[in-house]
Amino acid sequence: MPDPVSGKAGTPSDADSNSDTRSDTRSDTRSDTTTDTTLVDAQAKILACDDLDALKTVEREFVGKQGVVAQLLASISDYPPEQRRGVGQRANALKQAVQEAVHNRQQTLAEARVAAERQGEGFDASLPPPRPRRGSLHPLTQVTRELEDLFQSMGYTVLDGPEIETDYYNFEALNIHADHPARDSHDTFFCEGDGHLVMRTHTSPVQIRALETLKPPLRVVVPGKVFRHESTDASHDHTFHQMEGLVVDRNISVAHLVGAMKTLLRGIFDRDLEVRLRPGYFPFVEPGFELDARCPFCQEGCRVCKRTRWIELLPCGLVHPNVLRAGGLDPDEWGGFAFGLGLSRLVMLRHNIDDVRHLLGGDVRFLEQF
Ligand code: DAH
Repeated sequence: MPDPVSGKAGTPSDADSNSDTRSDTRSDTRSDTTTDTTLVDAQAKILACDDLDALKTVEREFVGKQGVVAQLLASISDYPPEQRRGVGQRANALKQAVQEAVHNRQQTLAEARVAAERQGEGFDASLPPPRPRRGSLHPLTQVTRELEDLFQSMGYTVLDGPEIETDYYNFEALNIHADHPARDSHDTFFCEGDGHLVMRTHTSPVQIRALETLKPPLRVVVPGKVFRHESTDASHDHTFHQMEGLVVDRNISVAHLVGAMKTLLRGIFDRDLEVRLRPGYFPFVEPGFELDARCPFCQEGCRVCKRTRWIELLPCGLVHPNVLRAGGLDPDEWGGFAFGLGLSRLVMLRHNIDDVRHLLGGDVRFLEQF
């Protein structure tokens, strides 16, 4: 054990081997001098430290668990009872003084480091401080929010629906029966079990859920993710986004459908686009259409419209009476129109993206552009 006075190892009793009694060897005055000398010693060592590691070592030597102060405190019982208090107090004062000196030295060293950096080569006080990197909204989120705003301004409600659906909602209630050939066009992911749960292949099942929960007249849009079990290429992915629309009211006609679709296109492309309807087959609408819009990118044909000057954008139609029935409505009283906008395709058109797989690829270099 290093003696606080001599710095040599020893016990309190060998600190003064000439003395006869313990009380003589450990006088109060003696411990006073001891702590004073120790403090002077500690301060000198602390001041001599040029870096934080060295300072830590010195700190440990004096106020660490096995340090000088700890040893002094541990030896208190070797002092006569009337002196113990004074020794304890002086040990604690020593501890505080050492800690303060260490703290001051830390401060000085830190300031010196900054000063040295400032003098160093390459320091430029005019450079902006490093900033945290900010992310941005995914282009799909941006377009979804824009369209939600647009539809809400027209009195539509935004709905959500489950991504794992029952066979009933995804197919059956939408007039696509078990042996219906239209199931072939929906390459379905079946969940484990008896095949009654599927990853929804479109957002249309929420039409039925809306009919079941809301009272007509109603207007809803349903943005969301859908899944198809198909091999991927530049224009097909196993997961993509759609926005379903459903309006149910009395006396709904194709004119209402076309009007709503034109408003939608104006919202997306910021101008009026000529539209045309072609017949399209979807079991849950009758009549069903493919609604094309004039290519917003060219006058004379381009890569996007495949030189046809029309872009195919919106499958839609008047709600099939069987769908209304499945939703508990009387088709003689109520009618409606529905549409299924391909959000992924829309984002690709808007930003001239040539491969749908970029959208959910999770590559930050791609996403940083939006
Ligand atoms: N659900 C159809 C699909 O994913 C798209 C669709 C077509 C939705 C016509 C509709 C509609 O609401 O009326 O292939």
